[in-house]
Amino acid sequence: MYEGEINMVIHAHGGEADVNVYETHIEIILKDKGPGIKNIEQAMQEGFSTAPDQIRSLGFGAGMGLPNMKRYTDDMNIESEVGVGTTVTMRVDL
Ligand SMILES: Nc1ncnc2c1ncn2[C@@H]1O[C@H](COP(=O)(O)OP(=O)(O)OP(=O)(O)O)[C@@H](O)[C@H]1O
Ligand SMILES: [Mg+2]
Repeated sequence: MYEGEINMVIHAHGGEADVNVYETHIEIILKDKGPGIKNIEQAMQEGFSTAPDQIRSLGFGAGMGLPNMKRYTDDMNIESEVGVGTTVTMRVDL
């Protein structure tokens, strides 16, 4: 969730997080009105990043956030439209 939040700060000028806690699972919905992701498959690859130098100097931009979010959740889905925004939904089973 932290990685998703930071992505919204760095890549999308902020956004909203909704967390629903159920007996069986936790659902996290991260929604922003940023620039959107042109190529989701590419963005999911380890090491791919569009973070500028200033952001890299702060320790971000390894291109590992999205792959790690997928690795550590039971389900993850990205919906994105260029110029409209991005919604990342994650599910963690309990
Ligand atoms: N919410 C978002 N809106 C627009 N683009 C995004 C968003 N989240 C991710 N991206 C794009 O996907 C790329 C890969 O994201 P990822 O989190 O894997 O790496 P990163 O944020 O660049 O670096 P790291 O997470 O390792 O600090 C980003 O560089 C950016 O181009
Ligand atoms: Mg990231």
